[in-house]
Amino acid sequence: MSAPNIETIVSLAKRRGFVFPSSEIYGGLGSAWDYGPLGVELCNNVKQAWWRWMVYERDDMEGLDSSIILNRLVWKYSGHELTFTDPLVDCRECNSRFRYDKLLAESGVDAERTGLLTPAEILKDIKCPSCGKKNWTGVRPFNLMFRTHVGATAEDDADALVYLRPETAQGIFINFANVLTTSRRKLPFGVAQIGKSFRNEVTPGNFIFRTREFEQMEMEYFVRPGEDEQVHQEWIDNCFNWFTSLGIEASNLRLYEQPKEELAHYAKRTVDIQYRFFPERDEPERQWDELMGIANRTDFDLRTHSKKPEDGEGKRLNPDSTEDLSYFDEATKERFYPYVIEPAAGVNRTVLSVLMDAYSEKTNDKGETRVILKLHPTLSPIKAAILPLAKNKPEIVGMAKAIKRSLQPVLRAVYDDTGGIGKLYARQDEIGTPFCVTVDHQSLEDEAVTVRDRDTWEQERVKVSDLPEHLLNRLKD
Ligand code: GAP
Repeated sequence: MSAPNIETIVSLAKRRGFVFPSSEIYGGLGSAWDYGPLGVELCNNVKQAWWRWMVYERDDMEGLDSSIILNRLVWKYSGHELTFTDPLVDCRECNSRFRYDKLLAESGVDAERTGLLTPAEILKDIKCPSCGKKNWTGVRPFNLMFRTHVGATAEDDADALVYLRPETAQGIFINFANVLTTSRRKLPFGVAQIGKSFRNEVTPGNFIFRTREFEQMEMEYFVRPGEDEQVHQEWIDNCFNWFTSLGIEASNLRLYEQPKEELAHYAKRTVDIQYRFFPERDEPERQWDELMGIANRTDFDLRTHSKKPEDGEGKRLNPDSTEDLSYFDEATKERFYPYVIEPAAGVNRTVLSVLMDAYSEKTNDKGETRVILKLHPTLSPIKAAILPLAKNKPEIVGMAKAIKRSLQPVLRAVYDDTGGIGKLYARQDEIGTPFCVTVDHQSLEDEAVTVRDRDTWEQERVKVSDLPEHLLNRLKD
């Protein structure tokens, strides 16, 4: 079972402290969300799992943490200043604003037709979803990069204009030579980075699926031209398997080959891993959306940021860069620009997909339906909850608290005595805690506790002295 819709997760997330609407006491801020006590743990666990898999478990990877605000020229030469836009259209009657491509998709306009007609001809037949009229402005591009200014300069000083990065990737490309020389790497190798990105999305929404501030986990893998296609395919398979290793059902994941007209300006081929974020939609095709993109960016980025490349007339294409980002192959004595394979995932979309996929309901012997979040234990915000069976017995409470303290250095444990045992179990099931450890009267005699499994509700008796190792082993299973 998985969540029937995103709304189910929105309500669980708010009720239990995973995600709150941001700035709520001032009326909120559209599509901005704050991660609460459990949400921050879940995000951190997703990022740690990715970093372990991507960096620590491989021999060909380095990490990086570049600035969010970069020199504006980075975005000039990356192509973002010119092309990182969404097409916008306004309704002249009610002033509502729409993304043109989304408006067409939601109005059921046949994609093939759009290639034959001008936007004005297409819009003639489309009703405004807000007021029902058909009176549209022209379609114009809207740049998605957030602008700000550095230093104490006037707002309109063009020299002080900078952007909040819309992707972490460019920070890796501009550091290619730095990483290469300091790490003494040879091709193929990759550079991984996790960090915030910002896009002034025209139509954010669907909870944490599309927001203006979000976090990315990106890796740029540098290869010899000619080896790019095979390596690209390997990364597509690796990434798909990573999501299933986090416990996501393979049937809720699929690969989507981007058609030529959807490809970004730098991409030779891009395959998205999509998740079934919208299972409630009748039309099967509309149930899926992007979780991660895996692109073959060719040598576009290293070339465009290099001082060397020239056009047909010998004129330098980038007169601003001070560096040549080509690679010298000692073995063949050749110099060339490596190709780049880029697996790029969103932390927030991964969090949403693991929450949706882990959601399940179970009915107990009293006929009550309980929510159980079957998160992969690696991702669970809390690994073990220590619960005293009698909170008015100081010896039991003392023993439970001592067990919690002894577990703290090895795993995230909490102590809770704020309800009856049934309620305490239910609370932990709902937030995905894999183990509840109960201290009872018998524990005072036999120095043992009951360990209850979230998924099976089975219980076993474990010696207190064996508990840390026992739980660590079970978490590894
Ligand atoms: N460097 C390539 C790149 O940024 P992308 O497909 O635009 O590619 C990669 O973004 C991932 O970042 C997406 O698959 C998605 O998970 C996440 N992402 C992109 N825009 C987002 C947004 N507005 N809100 C939340 N996540 C977003």
